[in-house]
Amino acid sequence: MPSYFGLDIGSTSIKLIQSDGARVKYVGIAQNPFGKSISAMTNAEKISLTDSLKLLLKEIGIREKKVVASIPESSVFSRVLKFPVMSSPELSTAIRWELDQSVPFPPSEVETSWAVLEKPEKFDGDEKISVYVVAVPSNISENYIQILELIGLEPVRLENEIPSLSRAFSSNLSDSSPSVLIDWGASGTNVVVAGKTKLYSNFYVPVGGSAMTKLIADTFGLPMDQAENYKRTYGFSKEQLDGKMVTVLKPIIDNVIGEVKKLIISYRDERGGNVVSKLVLTGGGSYLLGLVPYLSESLGLEVVIGDPFSGMAVDAKYKNLGPVFSVAVGLSM
Ligand SMILES: Nc1ncnc2c1ncn2[C@@H]1O[C@H](COP(=O)(O)OP(=O)(O)OP(=O)(O)O)[C@@H](O)[C@H]1O
Ligand SMILES: [Mg+2]
Repeated sequence: MPSYFGLDIGSTSIKLIQSDGARVKYVGIAQNPFGKSISAMTNAEKISLTDSLKLLLKEIGIREKKVVASIPESSVFSRVLKFPVMSSPELSTAIRWELDQSVPFPPSEVETSWAVLEKPEKFDGDEKISVYVVAVPSNISENYIQILELIGLEPVRLENEIPSLSRAFSSNLSDSSPSVLIDWGASGTNVVVAGKTKLYSNFYVPVGGSAMTKLIADTFGLPMDQAENYKRTYGFSKEQLDGKMVTVLKPIIDNVIGEVKKLIISYRDERGGNVVSKLVLTGGGSYLLGLVPYLSESLGLEVVIGDPFSGMAVDAKYKNLGPVFSVAVGLSM
């Protein structure tokens, strides 16, 4: 078993897991009391969050101190970039130039890492090198490290969500016919086109389940907790409340679908007509009733729920929570 656990501090819930891939040894979930990511919290909120984290660790009874933790996509620059074929030093300069255009921090305040995903074997003009680039503002990663150290943990790695998600589902994916992965969270939705070992493209839509709840609250004049119950009970169904839920939620869902379509089309155009094989839907938003058939119909794709606990022995209490733990499972691997 890896000598570390995965910790995903989501904007609504904190997920922790240690597993050997076949059996979950430690698992737990706690509410994020502030409904936002660490980088949006005040200092007082961060201190209070450490109490929630300590309580969770205590409840689970985990002794392990080494942790691999996630940084949300909303706090980082994370993109598959394409460059003309060039040498490694030239590539490094081109990436730096690209980041100067896209990241609103001076290079000295950003931690950058990149990995070449695809490099053409022969070169006759048009081929591109594809590179996955991640840039994290140093003050954000330092913040995460401080919080983890404050509760006595030893951070061995911080990772943005895209690699964790791809890893969590890689055994269900194929390089020759990639899939679209959607992690429908509370603050935002990650969309990834990935194969077993390959990453083709990714996009972060800054809209998720919380925006849905807020819209329901505004439309029906309800407090947020009741709006959350409405969402979970009635879902995205024409049959409920005279179709009002569909009217309210459709613009948000269609916004995500629009972004998914763009990624699918650009994948197809780049790959000479090769198409993605299926859609794997995960994250807490995947429980929304009616979402699977709607995505399937709108995108013309088979949609399956991404459950990282399938094929793993896990406490019955957590069996149905797999989609919520996707990022945490990827981190724990
Ligand atoms: N049965 C359900 N029906 C609809 N939505 C649900 C249901 N259960 C949970 N959700 C939604 O899932 C979201 C929480 O999912 P998740 O735990 O993946 O988010 P998070 O990791 O905290 O957020 P983020 O990744 O955006 O920071 C909430 O918006 C919640 O309302
Ligand atoms: Mg999340």
